[in-house]
Amino acid sequence: MEFKIKKICCIGAGYVGGPTMAVIADKCKGIEVNVVDLNRERIAAWNSENLSELPIFEPGLKNIITRRRGENLHFSCDVEMNIALADMIFISVNTPIKKSGIGAGMASDLKWVESSTRQILEHAQGNTIVVEKSTLPVKTAKTIKSILESNKNSNKNFSVLSNPEFLAEGTAIDDLINPDRVLIGGEDRNAIDELIKIYENWVPKNKIITTNLWSSELSKLSANAFLAQRISSINTISAICETTGSNINDVSKAIGMDSRIGSEFLKAGPGFGGSCFKKDILNLVYLCQYYGLGEVANFWKSVVDINSWQKDRISKIIVKNLFGTIAGKKLGIFGFSFKANTNDTRESPAIEICKSLLDEGAILQIYDPKVSFDSIKKDLSTIGEDSIPKNDNYGHWIFSRKSLEAAKDTDAIIILTDWDEFKTYNWEEIYELMRIPAWIFDTRNVIESPKHIRSLGFNLWQLGIN
Ligand code: NAD
Ligand code: UGA
Repeated sequence: MEFKIKKICCIGAGYVGGPTMAVIADKCKGIEVNVVDLNRERIAAWNSENLSELPIFEPGLKNIITRRRGENLHFSCDVEMNIALADMIFISVNTPIKKSGIGAGMASDLKWVESSTRQILEHAQGNTIVVEKSTLPVKTAKTIKSILESNKNSNKNFSVLSNPEFLAEGTAIDDLINPDRVLIGGEDRNAIDELIKIYENWVPKNKIITTNLWSSELSKLSANAFLAQRISSINTISAICETTGSNINDVSKAIGMDSRIGSEFLKAGPGFGGSCFKKDILNLVYLCQYYGLGEVANFWKSVVDINSWQKDRISKIIVKNLFGTIAGKKLGIFGFSFKANTNDTRESPAIEICKSLLDEGAILQIYDPKVSFDSIKKDLSTIGEDSIPKNDNYGHWIFSRKSLEAAKDTDAIIILTDWDEFKTYNWEEIYELMRIPAWIFDTRNVIESPKHIRSLGFNLWQLGIN
């Protein structure tokens, strides 16, 4: 099949679709890029004159949007028209865990992928390359192909490629501009070459690798499983450190200096969050079970189990140190996003930890530099079944616009996100606002001078150190 790529459509204007297409538009000025979404509010936010209202906070994103929006980058709700105009369509829709039915709690819910594929079938014209950008279970391309091949109109031809995205939130723009690799899976050489031509505008050729469809789909799930596995591994070691007097930062450094292991992703913390690690591993577990690989399924499942255990053990440590009860006590929560430099709270460890503390009756004063009141409200609203507090003693939370506000009258501050600004705080000033004995529970080890903090009068608990 012959292709000529002049117009790209991306279905899904989320954390992946938005930044990825912004970078493609910036690097390929001769291509028109249309990002479409059913969510009108999200599209309005992408089109907002006020760039601080963009739906996603990512360092470097505003600059690209300023350069390209209205030039060759457009955000729109007109899904049908933009599909019809496109020579290449990226499917960048959400693929969360299924909530009910077969595979509930484990398998990916592919209903958004299926519906966008059906929209493509109905509205695309001529020869169209369909690119899987969403993270999908192995063999999803087969489903996409069978839907697209069901077309009875001989004027429509499709070629399906897998091109998983490896960006991490908070560094999305940098990851997109300098990727470790670009992975393209497919069978149709012409289609693969067209996608390579796009990436070649800024990615060195040796970093663009091609495989068959299934290897590409599996590589994405496996990469996330490996990354998450390192975090669960180091978090288990953090618990051993606490009981043996070893220091997790030193152990991580010593392990990571082995070039076979490498130093990245060995930072202990309150457990991994984000929209993808848990769902992608559970999806892998589900696939293993489906293919009868029980031992493999158990192996990967334990990575998720350790992650839950880590969050739970942190809540217990807080309660234990505050004399076994936090009912009615004010606690300052510093950081709510799942990592620094993002406003995303999906699967943030802060959610489970805050819910456990609320369950113990605490009053939480929550501060995060980028997370909005509405996001926190949404995350903490499912209190128990039917949104009824699980017990009469259930605590409540307050949104603080400033860290000093969040610290006022608290017995403890709990650092849950590794925001840089926490390192620069005047802790003396904060101490003055707190109730004594004042505690800091530093689950990210952002406090770099524990001696100084202790000398101010704080009781300091750091993950994997005490
Ligand atoms: P997201 O929820 O932020 O965005 C998905 C968007 O798709 C939503 O705005 C939704 O309204 C839209 N959508 C769904 N169905 C649609 C349809 N039929 N037509 C038009 N719009 C539709 O999700 P995300 O974080 O961008 O993730 C997208 C995919 O990329 C997922 O499969 C995820 O696993 C994968 N991924 C995410 C990241 C990340 O850092 N968030 C990184 C790599 C890969
Ligand atoms: C992760 C992967 O890093 C990306 O390559 C992948 O594309 C993406 O998932 C995806 O498929 O969605 P992301 O979840 O955005 O990216 O962020 P990470 O930097 O991987 O952090 C995930 C979680 O692990 C965060 O809660 C972070 O605080 C935690 N983490 C990370 C640690 O606790 N320790 C570490 O050493 C690294």
